[in-house]
Amino acid sequence: MTDLTYADYLQVNTLLSLQQPRTSGTADRAVVLAEHFFIVAHQSCELWLKQLIADLDAVVDTLASGSGAADLELGAELLRRAGDLLRVLHEQVLVLERLPLRHFVEFRPFLGTASGAQSEQFAGLARLVGTDRRAGALYEAFTAAAARSGLSVAQVCRLGPEAGGLHRVAEALLDVGDGLWRWKVAHLGLMSRMVGGEQGTGGTSGIDYLIRRIVLPFPELRSHRGQVHAAEFAGSTG
Ligand code: HEM
Repeated sequence: MTDLTYADYLQVNTLLSLQQPRTSGTADRAVVLAEHFFIVAHQSCELWLKQLIADLDAVVDTLASGSGAADLELGAELLRRAGDLLRVLHEQVLVLERLPLRHFVEFRPFLGTASGAQSEQFAGLARLVGTDRRAGALYEAFTAAAARSGLSVAQVCRLGPEAGGLHRVAEALLDVGDGLWRWKVAHLGLMSRMVGGEQGTGGTSGIDYLIRRIVLPFPELRSHRGQVHAAEFAGSTG
């Protein structure tokens, strides 16, 4: 047995060397601290995004190739975890509301043209989840798994718990879609309280740009769920 330490296993020294405020040495301590806080929040988001994308990639692989009970349970389990990770990401945005505006004003010029809109991992997440107009890889894998079980998504919605694992996957997909939507709403709120109607550092209009991007993923799944009401009504009136 080697004497592996906590610091070695987690590479704590490397991790803690990665927060480098650009205002360091040129500004008040409170400003440097505020920039450090901003960096930690963003880096934490990127770390959690890494886990989230790996989990969702695994869901796509599992559902694209299998539709047995174990595959569906693993898919549902990973999707529920992804939904919870999105709650964590949501908190990472909310905590930045404690960034004092006067300190942000001082270090914002140091960001240059850097912007969250350039986050490659966030773009990867968007491809997996899809938008209100385009199905992402997750939904395609889900419909493939349902088809292999001889069911359409409409039937999965109508059957509810009787559809078993497919039902649990569908529910968990919505947790992920709604979690991403909630993150975007919180991010818009944060952005507007921090920069109002100013342009973003990435050169977009800011508020308008972000509002247009707040959409509810999995539109087809939502629509099939809505139609369950109509089917129930038709059934009850004979
Ligand atoms: C003071 C805090 C923040 C402000 C003022 C802010 C501001 C903005 C603005 C204005 C945009 C639009 C693009 C641009 O022109 O720059 C944007 C996009 C974005 N930001 Fe932030 N942001 C903040 C915190 C965060 C955090 C903590 C994250 C987490 C990683 C983040 C991730 C993103 C992402 C992923 C986008 C693209 C969103 C999309 O395309 O729907 N931002 N942000």
